Amino acid sequence: MERKWWMEQIGYQIYPKSFKDTNNDGIGDIPGNIEKLDYLQELGVTLLWICPVYDSPMFDNGYDISNYEGIWPTFGTMEDMDTLIQEAKKRGISLMMDLVVNHCSDQHEWFQQAIKDKNSKYRNYFIFKKGIDGKLPCNWRSVFGGSVWEPVPGEEDTYYYHTFAKQQPDLNWECPELRQEIIDMINRWLERGITGYRVDAINFIKKGEFIDREPDGADGLANCFDLMRNVPGIEEFYAQLRHEAFDLHECATVSETVGVGYDIIDTVVGEKGCFSMMFDFNYTNLDVENEEYFRRRDWTVDEFKKAIYLSQKEIQKVGWSSPFFENHDLPRSIQKNIKDEEYQNEIGAKALGVLFFHLRGTPFIYQGQELGMPNAIRSSIDEFDDLNAHSMYQRSLQEGFSEEESLRFVNLRSRDNARTSMPWSNAPYGGFSSVEPWIKMNETYPTINVENQINDPNSVFSFYKQMIQLRKDNVETLVYGLFEEYDCGNQEVISYSRNGDKKFIILVNLSKEEQKINSVDGKIVLNNYDTFDNTLKPYQAIVVEA
Ligand code: NOJ
Repeated sequence: MERKWWMEQIGYQIYPKSFKDTNNDGIGDIPGNIEKLDYLQELGVTLLWICPVYDSPMFDNGYDISNYEGIWPTFGTMEDMDTLIQEAKKRGISLMMDLVVNHCSDQHEWFQQAIKDKNSKYRNYFIFKKGIDGKLPCNWRSVFGGSVWEPVPGEEDTYYYHTFAKQQPDLNWECPELRQEIIDMINRWLERGITGYRVDAINFIKKGEFIDREPDGADGLANCFDLMRNVPGIEEFYAQLRHEAFDLHECATVSETVGVGYDIIDTVVGEKGCFSMMFDFNYTNLDVENEEYFRRRDWTVDEFKKAIYLSQKEIQKVGWSSPFFENHDLPRSIQKNIKDEEYQNEIGAKALGVLFFHLRGTPFIYQGQELGMPNAIRSSIDEFDDLNAHSMYQRSLQEGFSEEESLRFVNLRSRDNARTSMPWSNAPYGGFSSVEPWIKMNETYPTINVENQINDPNSVFSFYKQMIQLRKDNVETLVYGLFEEYDCGNQEVISYSRNGDKKFIILVNLSKEEQKINSVDGKIVLNNYDTFDNTLKPYQAIVVEA
């Protein structure tokens, strides 16, 4: 594969509402991101993805954009944004924004015009349909629960389509004028100095035929992901995005393409694909079915291992990936991927770090992952902020689960788990703000915080720093080297190698049993325990330079 600048980067994701608040309103802001650039530089980050900061009614925390070229005033101004771009650059960090163009906000001028005037040109920017025999145009369930169709206020038997919440009407990509507006907007931002995009829900932009399916839930609706995303024909939209926007700049793009099959990833990444790299969710959602919190699965480590191997091998054939275990939509990985509670601690956090960070691709760390942050357990549904937590709770009750069980499901899966404010110190409110944050804090902040970890050589933070340095010192192998499964003589262990001008062997024991392995010749360059004696201790993870 041709080498590109973005392959060597160390990615980091910021959830700006919860990173750092500088004007003490309890909500993070762009000046807060600027203030903490030194911290990111200290860690070794070189590519920053910042979740949406555009103007928005914030129904879905910025994934409902009302102006693609304005900044939400609570976050700051366009000048702040320019300063962030420049200050990041000075520290060797390039900035990716979030590109949210499957849908916008119902408060966006385009949508407001479209519902005000049926003859407006904006009518064709969205998807409107008449009901059929007094029923909805079809019985698909939206990602956040309820129908994908919402009645248009003031119009009889007319609906608009929304993949996510009803406040997030889908844009009609079949409309050439709409596509042009989006492409122009992308180009303007790239010219402004951002170096790329994380591309939200982009595999939803083409819709399948709006037909009814057999209902599969107590709500009478049907999960129709196969008709809602990765629909054939989408590659034409991808091609236009690539040729008329991305290819005009030396930019880096990462697609959020949940549910994309390996048979079609060549449309997503690689020579023919639209994006530089992709987040592969095939190994991040093993704990639930259809991303529905109450449909829990008893996943196994073996299954996790096979899913990671498969992802690596399939993407390697075609293009570049972006390994990750956490983001703002997922629970914290130490609870999701570590089955034994007593190891949901710094040992577990480091083991998972070793596992994902050495995979082939550009790794992305989610804020707080480098501290080993756990989930934030809540005792009542009222303590949750996220709209999806509430919707999943209701659906779970509707499916017959008790209040207690439903709360447990939400605690395990809620997106709020990852959205709590960044704990900078053990000061009140974790040094995030001087007032109570917008979302209930993670109670672990007095112990799990940056100040405690930054100078402690044994902390999770220092371990991440070491992993980053190792990658930077061994680019030929840890960036460009091939991924291969490695047979360590024990099927219970996750083991793979990276092969370039050197060879690194990665061995991870995700169990509380000791695991014997064949002896490995070489030097141990990373270890989440002090010693290693040819038997991996519970949740021990090592990297060997062979
Ligand atoms: C995926 C984003 O990551 C998530 O936070 C958001 O709610 C949906 N897309 C809708 O934009």
